[in-house]
Amino acid sequence: MKIGIIGSGTMGAGIAQVAAQAGNNVVVIDTNETVLNKAKHSLQNTLSKLTEKGKLSAEKAASIFSLISWELSINKLNESDLVIEAIVERLDIKQTLFAALEHIVSEQCILASNTSSLSVTSIASACKLPQRVIGIHFFNPAPVMELVEIVPALQTSQDIVTKSIAMIDSWNKKTVRTKDTPGFIVNRIARPFYSEAIRLYDEGVASIETIDHAMKVYGGFRMGPFELMDLIGHDVNYAVTETVWSSFYFDPRYTPSFTQKRLVEAKWFGRKSGRGFYDYADTAIKHEPELHEESAKEICWRVLVMLINEAANALFLHVASKEDIDLAMTKGVNYPKGLLHWADEKGIAACVEKLDALYEEYHEDRYRCSPLLRKMKASNTNFY
Ligand code: NAI
Repeated sequence: MKIGIIGSGTMGAGIAQVAAQAGNNVVVIDTNETVLNKAKHSLQNTLSKLTEKGKLSAEKAASIFSLISWELSINKLNESDLVIEAIVERLDIKQTLFAALEHIVSEQCILASNTSSLSVTSIASACKLPQRVIGIHFFNPAPVMELVEIVPALQTSQDIVTKSIAMIDSWNKKTVRTKDTPGFIVNRIARPFYSEAIRLYDEGVASIETIDHAMKVYGGFRMGPFELMDLIGHDVNYAVTETVWSSFYFDPRYTPSFTQKRLVEAKWFGRKSGRGFYDYADTAIKHEPELHEESAKEICWRVLVMLINEAANALFLHVASKEDIDLAMTKGVNYPKGLLHWADEKGIAACVEKLDALYEEYHEDRYRCSPLLRKMKASNTNFY
């Protein structure tokens, strides 16, 4: 297959590597020559490192590298079977690019966007053949993260959906299909992992160290919410929260936090800037978590039940199938279990009772229980 990738930044470079590792011919385009050269050299470095570690033979590394060509003009994409766009996250710029691409590629070529937050439907609307436009959403770093969300636009034909899924599956990825709604599956359902943790901290329930500890020890999460936000970067994480919130017409369920906004304003982005919730200076004082088991379990349960509620509500609104919702959270953000499986394990009635108790305590809409959970409790059914 001939694959075109537009944008050689963080995502484009990673997707190009994935496509070439699967044996495809890849043409990478970037209008910025410096970025393009940087991407080329850093892929060469990555491949040498993989060879040194014995994860890749020298021949395979050389063949992957030789499958990719690096170009400045989209005219070089004329023979593509699939083009994946990974440029700046701006609707007007993406629309202009897609409209221009249609003059270059064949009518059979699939046009995909890696957008995280824009509507694929609105990108497709710029095209003469909007039925061949689709969202193919990789996770960062693309060569490592197994999950890819497949997002048909309203206009996308079933044939294009089927072909896209088959192609990405053959690249050694796990695909899930999602409706074109804000945050798709992962970025929507994961919100409470961050927001409910910050809320607990804001209320003074526990320190960041204690909340992180609770989520790792009692939830089995690889990283605590504060460690993870510091790693992702507050600029990025806050922007996603704000986009999801405004895209949902300011549903209070997704309201961002002032605490995180202030970190962004202070440019305390997290690890990359040396300070976020935690201080990464060598001289920083380390605070130990409080190890009170019952309260740690309670903290973990409150965050978990909010995540379960999001997952259940996404299923309720047919954003994706229950299997895809569970797969997305385990493969896209490494959750230790699928949230709907977890809900069954905890008991649907217990989930509803906890959410109702939170709602009763705060009378805030963010704690409203999904109608699906309530129905399931009444009929005594499980997800699986
Ligand atoms: P980036 O800023 O690292 O790279 C974007 C690249 O596109 C730059 O090198 C820029 O020179 C190039 N570019 C801009 N306009 C162009 C044009 N008209 N033609 C050709 N090249 C152009 O951005 P990043 O982080 O790789 O994101 C790209 C897309 O992927 C965005 O839509 C983003 O929302 C999405 N995404 C990002 C993730 C992340 O964690 N960074 C995760 C999943 C999706």
